[in-house]
Amino acid sequence: MKGKPLILGHRGASHDAPENTCAAFSMAMEQQADGVELDVQLTTDGRLCVIHDHTLERTTSGFGPVGEKTMAELSALSAGAWFSPEFSEQKVPELADVLALLPEGATVNVEIKNGPAWYEGIGTAVAEQLCMWKNKLSLIVSSFDHQVLEEVHRREPALYLGLLYEARLYDPVAYVRSLPYPVYSLHLWHGLITAEIARQAHAAGLRVFAYTVDEPEEVARLTAFGIDAIMTNKPREVRQMSGHR
Ligand code: G3P
Ligand code: CA
Repeated sequence: MKGKPLILGHRGASHDAPENTCAAFSMAMEQQADGVELDVQLTTDGRLCVIHDHTLERTTSGFGPVGEKTMAELSALSAGAWFSPEFSEQKVPELADVLALLPEGATVNVEIKNGPAWYEGIGTAVAEQLCMWKNKLSLIVSSFDHQVLEEVHRREPALYLGLLYEARLYDPVAYVRSLPYPVYSLHLWHGLITAEIARQAHAAGLRVFAYTVDEPEEVARLTAFGIDAIMTNKPREVRQMSGHR
């Protein structure tokens, strides 16, 4: 019998609360997630803010690029009114706010949305911030930008690093071995994961994380491969589907 995957609330419990808000992260833990996934970007005044899109329109009451705002400007916006009036007081949180509200031992997958091409120094800023929480939380930094992970590693070599992929993998194990930093996990769009990919990754000592999985059939398929974590918008349901108590 393979182990049960960690259940991570994708942008929090984002089916039931506005994504990447404190309400969504708290709700994920109430739904018995093992932890959360979140997205970080950098403000003009060097603060790490938690928001997915590069622009504010979809999930806040503001307009324009996130990277052209100060944290104070972001904090003045509603990040919940778009979802439901009940959440209109929710703000764009700082990374530190989210880390502070999570319980001891929770897993946090911090996704760096874009590396230095957009945000100079973001890898270092994330590493320095996470350093302060390493005794409380189980931390993983991931990115589609595999170069920014090198910057994270240079600043804090002990942090676990995950490679994000949304398209077909060409010999990921060889690729991982070519990188100048150790890789903890492959974070794969769930449709890319096969039994063979899971087997190869595990044989190479890599964990396999799947995003974003809300459907019972897919939870069952992936769980049978012994994958290590499932990111889901519906932690409560997926916890039940994947055989947790
Ligand atoms: O970290 C996994 C997943 O969140 C990556 O895609 O677009 O939801 O940030 P996206
Ligand atoms: Ca993400």
